[in-house]
Amino acid sequence: MKVLVTGGTGYIGSHTVVELQKKGYEVVIIDNLSNSTKDVIYSIEKITGVLPEFHQFDLCDEKLTKDFFLKNKGIAGVIHFAAFKAVGESVEQPSKYYKNNLGSLINLMSYMNETQVKNLVFSSSCTVYGQPDVLPVNENAPFKKAFSPYGHTKQICEEIIEQTGKIFGFKTIALRYFNPIGAHESALIGEFPIGIPNNLIPFITQTAIGKRDYIRVFGKDYDTPDGTCIRDYIHVVDLALAHIIAFERMLNNKTKSSCEVFNLGTGNGFSVLEVINTFEKVSGIKLNYKIVDRRAGDIEKVWANTQFANEELGWNAKRGLDVMMLSAWKWEMALKEKVRKLFN
Ligand code: WQD
Repeated sequence: MKVLVTGGTGYIGSHTVVELQKKGYEVVIIDNLSNSTKDVIYSIEKITGVLPEFHQFDLCDEKLTKDFFLKNKGIAGVIHFAAFKAVGESVEQPSKYYKNNLGSLINLMSYMNETQVKNLVFSSSCTVYGQPDVLPVNENAPFKKAFSPYGHTKQICEEIIEQTGKIFGFKTIALRYFNPIGAHESALIGEFPIGIPNNLIPFITQTAIGKRDYIRVFGKDYDTPDGTCIRDYIHVVDLALAHIIAFERMLNNKTKSSCEVFNLGTGNGFSVLEVINTFEKVSGIKLNYKIVDRRAGDIEKVWANTQFANEELGWNAKRGLDVMMLSAWKWEMALKEKVRKLFN
């Protein structure tokens, strides 16, 4: 069974490719390597023993996308990760985000439809909720005004998928991630931010390894127990496993509507300071941090109501914050060792 994974050399994509291959699926990756490197496919091969088929091109290129689907028959479905995903960057470069995130999806669905590929799992995000009025937030919560062009593209993509998917007769599932963190237990794949990390966890591990002097905690005056923002952090492997379940739900005709949506979180919220304290506990390393001003675009607190995914998908997150932080730390140490070997 052939599965197309777009963005398959990226952080969540690569972990999903590993789990697909472990279940015996033949995986084909499309990635333009704008935010990842080709050697990820060799790391995947080290973990699973299988080198995924890899095609490097941009899904915004309509001709290349069309040629791919005309030449690659027998695809059972698509898991679509390929998109830009940095909130801050999307505020600085909105057109880049709308063009890329919307354009790639539109091309993908057009040529899926032309070649009878009718199953689509979409990588969405809890950012579609904005700051929910009710916590934990469930899938019926309304889309509030997006806090960033990135979040807005996820809202628009979900609506394109719902409308176009119905017309094309697709089965589609949108998975709304909360905060994916951590790395595969092998420490062979993980989050690999290029440049200064936007996200909290890579900034923590890079501070711990000595690449950064200290962590800036963006605000301690929020309406939360310790004043810092709260997020629902989920292990990237738990997230990857949910994609397999969603994909098989479509293959086995278990979907109950043409467009289903599921929250993928743990249902637990942790503050920035709790995350920092957990890292210090599992690593034995004291972290330098400074409380600074709030970051524009941050919502105060969000965590998932996971009941629908738990009951309908029969899935729940199994890895706790300790495991998430330790796996992120092991990955950071492995990266340092890899760089040392490259230059010695
Ligand atoms: C987490 C918390 C920051 C960095 C992002 C994406 C979102 C989704 C999940 C894909 C916030 C604080 C951060 C730092 C800090 N991705 N922080 N110092 O913004 O919740 O969401 O990941 O689906 O689309 O936007 O994640 O890790 O940037 O921030 O204090 O150096 O950590 O204020 O409260 P975020 P994050």
